[in-house]
Amino acid sequence: MNQEAIEKARQAKRVAVITGAGISAESGIPTFRGAGGLWRKYRAEELATPEAFAQDPTLVWEFYEWRRSVCAEASPNSGHEIVARMEEFYPEFLLITQNIDGLHIRAGNKKIIEIHGNIWKARCTACRNIFNLPTAPLTHLPLHCDQCNSLARPHIVWFGESYDPEFLRRAFAFLSACDLIVVVGTSGMVSIPVQFAEFAGKHGAYVIDINLEKSAVAQFAHAEFYGKAGEILPGFWEEIQG
Ligand code: OAD
Repeated sequence: MNQEAIEKARQAKRVAVITGAGISAESGIPTFRGAGGLWRKYRAEELATPEAFAQDPTLVWEFYEWRRSVCAEASPNSGHEIVARMEEFYPEFLLITQNIDGLHIRAGNKKIIEIHGNIWKARCTACRNIFNLPTAPLTHLPLHCDQCNSLARPHIVWFGESYDPEFLRRAFAFLSACDLIVVVGTSGMVSIPVQFAEFAGKHGAYVIDINLEKSAVAQFAHAEFYGKAGEILPGFWEEIQG
C-alpha cells in the first residue's frame, strides 16, 4: 500500500468521500458504463431525461421500478461499511454520492449529499412535494402525488437537468478546506466528481482515487489504488487503524 496515502489518511481531520456506481457494483447493482453497464443496454435519452418523461411517463417509471427492485434486493457491502466507519472516525466528514440506491444511508452514513437524488423518493411535478416510495412494487404507474394527485416523477437528477444549487454550495464549501478526499468507483464521465477532486486538490487536499481502472479523476490524484472497492477500502482502513 502507498505509505504516503496511509499517513495522510491517518493525520487527516476533515475528510470527504465521493462515490460512484463502482462502490455498489459488489452489491449487485449494475454500473452505467463499461461491461454490463446500464447505458450499454438502454438509451439514457429515452429513459433518464425530462423529455423522455414528458413523452412516456409510464415507460420511465417502469425503468425505475425495475431498478428499484434491483436495489431492494441489494445490501451494503464492505466498501459501504468502511465509508460509514470513516464518518464515525473523522471529526469533520462529508460523503457526496452520485448513487441513487440508498445503500450508504443503509450502511449508516448521515453526513451525506445524494447529488443525483434517491430512487426511494418521488417528487410531484406540480406541488413539488417529495415523498417516500415503498420497497414493494408500485401498483399504478405512472405514480401520482400523495398530496395533490398530480403526476409524480422519480426524485432523480436526469441528463440535461441542473444540480441542486444548495447541494453544490455545501459540497464546494466543505471541499475548500479538506485534508483528504477519497474518490471511489466513478468513471468521471459525468464530470462532477472530477471537478470536486480538482477543486479539493487545488485547495490543499490529498486526493486518493480507488477504481478498477484508471478513471478521469486520476489526473488530479496523488495516489491511485486499483481493485475492487469492497477489497481496497477494508485493506486501506486496516492500515490506517494499525
Ligand atoms: P460509471 O458506470 O460511469 O463508472 C463506474 C466506475 O466504477 C468505473 O470507472 C469502473 O471502473 C468502476 N468500478 C466498477 N466496479 C468497481 C468496483 N467493484 N470497485 C471499484 N470501482 C469499480 O458510474 P458513475 O461514474 O457513478 O447518473 O456514473 C455517474 C453518473 O452517470 C451516475 O450517477 C448516473 C449515470 O448516468 C444518474 O443516474 C443521474
